[in-house]
Amino acid sequence: MKTYKIALYPGDGIGPEVVDQAVRVLEAVQTRGGFKLAYTRLPWGYDYYRQHGAVVPENFLDVLRPMDAILLGAVGWPEKIADHLTLAPLVKIRQTFDQYACIRPTKLLPGVKSVLVGKGPAEIDFVVLRENSEGEYVDSGSRFHQGKDDEFALQTAIHTRRGVERILRFGFEMARKRRKRLTMITKSNAQRFAYTLWDDLLELVRPDYADVAADKLHCDAAAMDFVRRPERFDVVVASNLFGDLLTDLGGVIGGGLGLAPSTNTNPERNYPSMFEPVHGSAPDIAGKGIANPIAAVLSAAMMLEWLGEDASAATIRRGVESVLAGGAKTPDLGGTLTTSQMGEALVQAAAD
Ligand code: NAI
Ligand code: MG
Repeated sequence: MKTYKIALYPGDGIGPEVVDQAVRVLEAVQTRGGFKLAYTRLPWGYDYYRQHGAVVPENFLDVLRPMDAILLGAVGWPEKIADHLTLAPLVKIRQTFDQYACIRPTKLLPGVKSVLVGKGPAEIDFVVLRENSEGEYVDSGSRFHQGKDDEFALQTAIHTRRGVERILRFGFEMARKRRKRLTMITKSNAQRFAYTLWDDLLELVRPDYADVAADKLHCDAAAMDFVRRPERFDVVVASNLFGDLLTDLGGVIGGGLGLAPSTNTNPERNYPSMFEPVHGSAPDIAGKGIANPIAAVLSAAMMLEWLGEDASAATIRRGVESVLAGGAKTPDLGGTLTTSQMGEALVQAAAD
């Protein structure tokens, strides 16, 4: 039987609560799917920090490297430990393992109330592909003359030909498997160096994907159209900053944080990819047993798809859809189910 090595990194707050439910659902599909998931559960996060003085061991990347995939809950406990300490390992993982494609689907499921008037599941189904390795989020810049009248700050973005071209090609490949539309987001009217490079590279790559209709939008116009006509989007490719902004909007349009899955993908498969809900550790509801596990469960489905277990991924998704359509919901969606009751409903649905 095919066996995959999975690192489970539940993390803090609701992270372990939702990851536990994702594991239950994965277990419900793996026998019929004909594969096995061999987990290494990593006790990293705030508790680990209390015992060892660091949120992860020094060799954490070596522990993760041989894995086939990483399933993450969420990290962070801002009242107890500074966010930059808890989140630092995630940035390290994304960069060291060259997880340059951050995939964030927005798909409104039947039974979930839309925040957009007159738009339902037929109109809201797109994927934002966020460049995850460079762009506006490289750590490059400085503050000068601090505190003085002539103080100024310099913050540099780096967009490389290689980095932009590879995310565009990844987007085109994805569009081919969907509705064959790609929209590239820039702001080349105001930032004429970085984003004209993006423009040029779109033209360079476009002929290789003649079957995909590609256009581009400035980020401000895209924000408007996410709300006004979400149906125009299929695959959206954006730089690190614009992808970050647009996926918060996408998350809300798709029904909220409790439902939004995400990946940090290394498309070449030289390193393990990481799968995680978009949401954080939600300290305000941690320990109450009311977190919505669906974002984690859908992230687990994306992991199975990445491993090549498409049928089992589809089974999980169908289960989520049928449970929500049947009206079963956690409190964030206006329902009364606890985290584990939702997990149980998803396990049952996956077994049907
Ligand atoms: P958050 O996503 O944890 O929570 C925002 C709001 O959404 C809260 O009211 C929370 O209760 C609600 N919420 C989130 N997930 C939910 C779920 N599954 N079911 C029901 N309600 C849910 O963001 P926040 O509060 O800004 O950050 C909390 C901590 O998480 C911080 O330490 C932050 O740095 C960290 N964080 C970690 C991320 C990661 O591990 N990748 C991502 C985002 C934040
Ligand atoms: Mg963000």
